[in-house]
Amino acid sequence: MRISVVGLGKLGAPLLAVLASRGFEVCGIDVDQRSVDAINARTAPVVEPHLQELLTAHSERIRATTDWQAGIAGTDITCIIVPTPSGADGAFKNDFVLDAIEQIGSALRSKTGYHLVVVHSTTMPGSVDGPIREHLEACSGRRVGSDLGLCYNPEFIALGNVVEGLLNPDFVLIGESDERAGDVLVDMCRRVVGGSVPISRMNPVNAELTKISVNTYVTMKISFANMLGEICDNLAGADADIVTRAIGQDTRIGGKYLKGGTGYGGPCFPRDTIAFAVAAQRANTDAVLATATHTVNQRQVDRLVKLVGEHADPGETVAVMGLSYKPGTNVIEESQGILLAAALMKAGYRVVVHDPAAIDAARAVLGPNASFVAEPEEAISIASVVVIMVPWPEYREFFSAY
Ligand SMILES: NC(=O)c1ccc[n+]([C@@H]2O[C@H](COP(=O)([O-])OP(=O)(O)OC[C@H]3O[C@@H](n4cnc5c(N)ncnc54)[C@H](O)[C@@H]3O)[C@@H](O)[C@H]2O)c1
Repeated sequence: MRISVVGLGKLGAPLLAVLASRGFEVCGIDVDQRSVDAINARTAPVVEPHLQELLTAHSERIRATTDWQAGIAGTDITCIIVPTPSGADGAFKNDFVLDAIEQIGSALRSKTGYHLVVVHSTTMPGSVDGPIREHLEACSGRRVGSDLGLCYNPEFIALGNVVEGLLNPDFVLIGESDERAGDVLVDMCRRVVGGSVPISRMNPVNAELTKISVNTYVTMKISFANMLGEICDNLAGADADIVTRAIGQDTRIGGKYLKGGTGYGGPCFPRDTIAFAVAAQRANTDAVLATATHTVNQRQVDRLVKLVGEHADPGETVAVMGLSYKPGTNVIEESQGILLAAALMKAGYRVVVHDPAAIDAARAVLGPNASFVAEPEEAISIASVVVIMVPWPEYREFFSAY
């Protein structure tokens, strides 16, 4: 089975390499020549643990091109993993997926035999079996269901752990246009994840709803723990860690992601939670739990600014340790560390920041008013208050000495 992967970004490049590592002949396609050149030079186009090792070890099965016809022609399955940015209303936009579908569809006009198209990008419920299927049929001149299959197969990975997440997921989610399409995708997925990982098969709209439900349920747990934290801030003798640790022992609840701390950030949690609320509105209902989850999350930075204010006055220096949205990545999208640093500067504090990986990305966002340091010692030597925002292993080691 030969596979084309459209979009060689933070998820697409690791997916390409993982598929090659499982014996598939793969061809990457991207509109960005630099990503294609990087793959052909066997150089990771994005920073992700194990990606470079896989590209090097399985190079004989990997190629990339900007030529859609050449890229699609020799393959049986095309995986689409291009951006679906959130629009002003919070819904994911399909524009890049539809652009890719147009190219795939016209390439399929001159290809014979069965072809499966798999959408891995996160889409709003109703997209895959709606505008995406319609565009694919119009551009390819084929009907989905006969010699053309269409599936939705979103990824539940976290940046910094993408390769591991692709190889060892908790479960595989497949939304299938028909049984044959699902069977072909199951064969592909089984070669990647092995025989014991559960695979949930359903129609595309259920799979689209499942994808955003998973993240929204997790963010709900995070906001629940932070809500407990807010109560404990003002309840003498109360400690959110003690309460959440006890609650987590109930097997109906579980302790994962149930710990008071900072709000959640990153490229998926915030926008999937908002998109869930939008999906509910579109279904003429009100997802109050998703909306409340988002509201609680938004006030966590103010809560921290208030806490800092109990220990230092504006004009004093505060160290913000950790600017990426989680350990192991340089991505700062919706990062709580960045939001806190900006809020503290706005409140009149001097802010010194440190991060083992995300300083360059943070510099572009925080601007010249923040002081950037290369070593944790430099930050804490000049700060009245130190706020550790990201549990980088480096910090655990460093601060355990204090
Ligand atoms: N990053 C995450 O943590 C994460 C997690 C789960 C799901 N997702 C979803 O995966 C999808 C991709 O995310 P990402 O983080 O890999 O994006 P990314 O921005 O890192 O990479 C996208 C790639 O697609 C390419 N591209 C854009 N338009 C194209 C087109 N028309 N044809 C071919 N290539 C095109 C870009 O050049 C880029 O290389 C999104 O829908 C996102 O929501 C992301």
